[in-house]
Amino acid sequence: MSTQALINTANALVADDKGLLAMDESNPTCNKRFAQLGIPQTADARRAYRELIITTPGLGACISGAILYDETIRQATREEIPFVQAVIDAGIIPGVKVDAGAKELAGHPGEKVTEGLDGLRGRLKEYAQMGLRFAKWRAVIVIGDGLPSRACIEANAHALARYAALCQEVGLVPIVEPEVLMDGEHTLARCFAVTEQVLHTVFDQINTQGVILEGMLLKPNMVLPGLSCSQQETVEAVADATVRCFLRAVPAAVPGVVFLSGGQSAELASARLSAMNAGFKSHGPWALSFSYGRALQQPAMDIWSGQAANVKAAQQALLHRAQCNRAARRGEYSATMEVKD
Ligand code: 13P
Repeated sequence: MSTQALINTANALVADDKGLLAMDESNPTCNKRFAQLGIPQTADARRAYRELIITTPGLGACISGAILYDETIRQATREEIPFVQAVIDAGIIPGVKVDAGAKELAGHPGEKVTEGLDGLRGRLKEYAQMGLRFAKWRAVIVIGDGLPSRACIEANAHALARYAALCQEVGLVPIVEPEVLMDGEHTLARCFAVTEQVLHTVFDQINTQGVILEGMLLKPNMVLPGLSCSQQETVEAVADATVRCFLRAVPAAVPGVVFLSGGQSAELASARLSAMNAGFKSHGPWALSFSYGRALQQPAMDIWSGQAANVKAAQQALLHRAQCNRAARRGEYSATMEVKD
């Protein structure tokens, strides 16, 4: 597989002020969100919901790539178009989550390591043959009393780098996602320090494993105070801290930083991304973009609630969030975009 093809895909995923849509919730996570809305937790309900997303008219004008789950890539629309093809038909590049989830890290209570390296080479080959062009692997880092441990950061960074190298071997662009969670009472400064340390460790491993920086994307958390921290911060302070942290730790050769939303409200995720682009676009070497799950989907899922009659309204809500985030990539999102008529 040519290096140039990898670089082209990575650049296409951050081109034209578009961003990524994460719709790769595992079955347990998707079912949990369905249960909160009284939606049946079945394969067909998940299929219907993913069809709603993918067939949203105009989505491809704002979304460059969609991250799917293994179950979804083996399903089809009601018209029997396989979902991978339906995504391509929408003008969107299809990708897939390939990790096997975060599991308890031995000897380190409260911390997790993401599994899934065993047999990964074979699975990636199959995904590439199915037409998928990129992949995602998420590691989870908790901030707490004495946490994260070096063991947790290093084990996850090592796995992320091994996964990324395996992806590039078969021509899939790896999305490298080390997520420092928002839960906790920690300050913005503490999140900054932990995120910086995690990123340094991840890129050290990425270099050790020979991953091509130009052919990958980083999917990080924003630098935020913990959800239970008494001192919350302005949109501008978050944007400033996030970009300063990344200028220290993310190599300039990486084409894009595509943020996860991590439980932020849809509006805050748009506002903070917009502030980063408004204030720093000309300073940073990489595109500052989005790869949101909940911040793109949740308003649409709430409206849909499993009812066929709500599909159109849900699609409008999804498209609206995608448009808000495309505006945020230009630094042009404002709260007035949220005014409902
Ligand atoms: P959220 O934006 O909901 O955090 O999801 C992004 C994602 O892909 C998590 O792995």
